[in-house]
Amino acid sequence: MVRITGTGSYLPDKVISNKDLEQMVDTTNEWITQRTGIKERRVVAENQSTSDIATEAASLALKKAQITPQEVELIVLGTSTPDFPIPATAPIIQKKLGCSQIPAYDINSVCSSFMYALLNGYSSIKSGIYQNCLVIGADCYSRILNWQDRNTCVIFGDGAGAVVLQRDEHAKGVLSLNYGADGNGSHLITQQAGGSVNPVSKAIKNRENDLYFQMTGKKVYEFTISVIPKVAKKMIQDAGLNKEQIDWIILHQANKRIIESISKILAIDLNKFINNIEFLGNTSSASIPMALDSAVKQNKIKQGDKVMFLGFGGGLSWGGMIVEW
Ligand code: COA
Repeated sequence: MVRITGTGSYLPDKVISNKDLEQMVDTTNEWITQRTGIKERRVVAENQSTSDIATEAASLALKKAQITPQEVELIVLGTSTPDFPIPATAPIIQKKLGCSQIPAYDINSVCSSFMYALLNGYSSIKSGIYQNCLVIGADCYSRILNWQDRNTCVIFGDGAGAVVLQRDEHAKGVLSLNYGADGNGSHLITQQAGGSVNPVSKAIKNRENDLYFQMTGKKVYEFTISVIPKVAKKMIQDAGLNKEQIDWIILHQANKRIIESISKILAIDLNKFINNIEFLGNTSSASIPMALDSAVKQNKIKQGDKVMFLGFGGGLSWGGMIVEW
């Protein structure tokens, strides 16, 4: 019923290596490599924003799907680093792409944002409202990181990925899905300032640290390892499949150790996991669509393959789908 007909991604040019970070905070290349699997990450140029990199990724996805910007009927952007708190960033992308006056809005579920945007695009087509949707995951965490906080600045990178979703009567599309959130962990991943509780004007004067992204990494790690494998197993079961029938798994790229642990817990070969964390870091909402685009470009994913997508992050939230390609 719904098919991904085009993928695209965009990576900023500027590279920050672990060696560069050694000059900035009290860390080592060894620590970062061993604890996260990350060797380098990209950051946007001074004059680039989330809408710029999202537009680049989206144009490539549209070209791959062979549709024009005027044929797009809906744009959903998953991001937690919009161009501005107001307005939403998707209308800015709509203008930059040259689309018509179609609905365009943002969804923020932190690192799961792309998966929630995908659910929204998928539902909009499945319900019969639209035929052609553009779903984007783009983030510029470099703009909200405290570059003096070694707990967070070594982990994230900037990037954008996009998919075109189209109605296709012959496609099986989504075989199962699983979305959820546990608000008990909402304090574990935050950017405290800029909302109704802690207006940015107050934070600037009294609590500068609240302006930055903060994460209690260890607790999030524990949550991920305990919840995500269960979600994966449930999705496989709900799809009426066994784990051997899953061809590819694209997890949110939070930490290489997390991916390895989940592979072990599920007893699914690590070679089935598509990873890009080594040279990109955690690109938040962009990690899944960028990993997908790289797999498509390498002709890894074949028609009929069963692909599992599974994102997780702040909220705490998760969202996953198994699709037949
Ligand atoms: N360089 C060197 N040492 C560092 C460091 C760095 N960049 N960052 C933290 N440390 C130190 C800590 O201060 C701590 O020192 P201590 O033992 O003297 O107190 C030690 O390393 C261990 O810290 P800890 O936080 O327990 O490390 P960890 O093994 O849990 O790894 C993360 C940290 C963030 C990589 C890991 O917890 C993680 O990946 N969490 C999950 C993130 C995630 O899933 N996010 C999802 C949505 S974004």
